[in-house]
Amino acid sequence: MIEARAAVVLEPGAVPQLTDVQIRPPVGDEVLVRVAAVGICHTDVSVSARFPAARLPMTFGHEGTGTVVEAGPDATAAMGQQVVLTFASCGECANCSEGAPAYCDHSTGLNMRGDRGDETSALRLHGTPVAGGFFGQSSFATHAISRPANTVVLPEPMPPELAAPLGCSVQTGVGTVLNALALAAADVLAVFGAGAVGLSAVMGGRIAGCRAIVAVDPVPQRRALAMRLGATAVIDPVDGDVAAHLIEVTGGGATAAIDTTALPDVIATALTCLRARGTLALVGLGALSAALPVGLIMGRGLRVRGVVEGDSDPHVFIPQLAQMWRRGDLPLEELVTTFSFDDFGDAWHSATTGGAVKPVLVMRPDR
Ligand SMILES: NC(=O)c1ccc[n+]([C@@H]2O[C@H](COP(=O)([O-])OP(=O)(O)OC[C@H]3O[C@@H](n4cnc5c(N)ncnc54)[C@H](O)[C@@H]3O)[C@@H](O)[C@H]2O)c1
Ligand SMILES: [Zn+2]
Ligand SMILES: [Zn+2]
Repeated sequence: MIEARAAVVLEPGAVPQLTDVQIRPPVGDEVLVRVAAVGICHTDVSVSARFPAARLPMTFGHEGTGTVVEAGPDATAAMGQQVVLTFASCGECANCSEGAPAYCDHSTGLNMRGDRGDETSALRLHGTPVAGGFFGQSSFATHAISRPANTVVLPEPMPPELAAPLGCSVQTGVGTVLNALALAAADVLAVFGAGAVGLSAVMGGRIAGCRAIVAVDPVPQRRALAMRLGATAVIDPVDGDVAAHLIEVTGGGATAAIDTTALPDVIATALTCLRARGTLALVGLGALSAALPVGLIMGRGLRVRGVVEGDSDPHVFIPQLAQMWRRGDLPLEELVTTFSFDDFGDAWHSATTGGAVKPVLVMRPDR
């Protein structure tokens, strides 16, 4: 067994607590990754808050990056390589076979439930199993076990605190623009919510060369950051009629909108902002249902679609994102605030209160 330290949720809704845990060695195609940094995504916050008591204790975390320190006999990543951990997929179902692993038929079990598909866990706390397979990694820990589908080797090393969020939020925001919506210079993009995902979408819009990019967020610092990252206008939703304002500043509305808020009212507003034949991408996780303006959708030929992880094939897209960062097109430094892993509680507080856009925990190299 490997001695490690992990943030463990012991009771429903509780803040993860740093605890000493034991991890079994990797088997089959698994690797053991010494985690160098891990981002906190809003999905960690919202899923842990309503995770069923019967499946606890559990370790969350799904934006890990680090170095392979032990490899199972069938592993594809080699010892010493820097990897970015991302969402898990089975590699065999119809969607995986068609290059759409984000829509894997087994996605819920492999990513959200915290098991490893076979109900076993590699993690133990004083002999008790800890669910340790969140997004196939549970990387709020000094060590994580992952499999080839969600272990992406970086062709060139990258600072861990910037590589970590490539695994989920940056991949989701940029991928929604470049892969799912495939926006181009003729497009007008509206982004609702300027958190890590929304701001990544703004950066994606700039990379795509969209002729206008409007970000909507109530937090002034986030609107200012959106302007620095490529927005051509920003709107405070507290100021009156957002749709009318957005249609005015864009001279007719957006060709594409992205909702990262998961708020039913915001989703309705986003549809109202679209030009005829425009598309709304639903990315936020939270609203289980929302009223749809059916007449508007039908009459204007609008499309509404969900997007998971930016429609990416992570083995292709994450190295491309690293390249975009290297070229200066993806200034991840602007999103990231680092915290020592020992200060997990402070980072979690920052994530839950919106203090930092992208809190990233950095591990001490000696652990
Ligand atoms: N679909 C996917 O694959 C995927 C991947 C990653 C994250 N997510 C989800 O995406 C969402 C965004 O993640 P994040 O980490 O950027 O979260 P975040 O909380 O940082 O971002 C949400 C933003 O919405 C803003 N907001 C609140 N009310 C608003 C309003 N009325 N109008 C406009 N903006 C408003 C907040 O100020 C905040 O900046 C979360 O729900 C997360 O779970 C989905
Ligand atoms: Zn699959
Ligand atoms: Zn995420």
